Amino acid sequence: MTFDRASNTYRTFGRAKGRPLSPRVQAVWDETLPKLQWAIGGPLPDLGAKDELWLEIGFGGAEHLLWQAEAHPDIHLLGAEPFMNGVAKAVRGAAEANLENLSLHHGDVRDVLAALPDNALSRIFILFPDPWHKSRHHKRRLLRSEFIAELYRVLKPGGELRFASDIIHYVDWTLTRLKKHGGWTFTHDVGSDWRVRGDDWPGTRYEAKAGREGRPCHYFKFLKT
Ligand SMILES: C[S@@+](CC[C@H](N)C(=O)[O-])C[C@H]1O[C@@H](n2cnc3c(N)ncnc32)[C@H](O)[C@@H]1O
Repeated sequence: MTFDRASNTYRTFGRAKGRPLSPRVQAVWDETLPKLQWAIGGPLPDLGAKDELWLEIGFGGAEHLLWQAEAHPDIHLLGAEPFMNGVAKAVRGAAEANLENLSLHHGDVRDVLAALPDNALSRIFILFPDPWHKSRHHKRRLLRSEFIAELYRVLKPGGELRFASDIIHYVDWTLTRLKKHGGWTFTHDVGSDWRVRGDDWPGTRYEAKAGREGRPCHYFKFLKT
């Protein structure tokens, strides 16, 4: 199954904008975003001496993305998010922490994926993707089979896909499709708990919301075989 961006146009995200940016945040955005923005179709972010390129899809408020970039100065992080106010948080955080190992795409990750060569990434994070509960909206879910095949293409052999969700139906949906694809190994050891995230996996805003609303979260790591 191949990924055809031209026919894969269902909108997979909700709002593209929240409140207008304050003048102070707008100034940081104007100054810093051009330095961080990855031009689709241009060369990949210059990894310099960095070992690997990791991608976070739909980073929301950027808590996890910024944490990973700060914790791993030897890795280059690429984040894609269409929600302007989330991108503004990433831009502000990168400016405050002087991060030099972060690139951003303010927009749809499907454009990033379509522009990436095979085996470009060592790790991909998809944390709490929009669940699109109604059956007539399932076509808007990111983790459809053709998208999973595209993640597989851009990951290096042995590369890792991390996925989290608080929506059990979406967990089942995703596990079914990953299994059907057949190219993924579930990495948890027998007896380990997929309801606990590891120490190298900080919480996100949506995870906290799920906790407040009493929904247990599920965390998975898969390797490309
Ligand atoms: C439920 S939120 C979770 C945000 C964050 N990962 C967290 O855990 O707090 C899902 C995010 O995915 C983003 N998203 C949805 N479709 C996307 C796409 N095609 N490309 C990039 N991001 C997308 C949405 O804008 C939203 O910010």
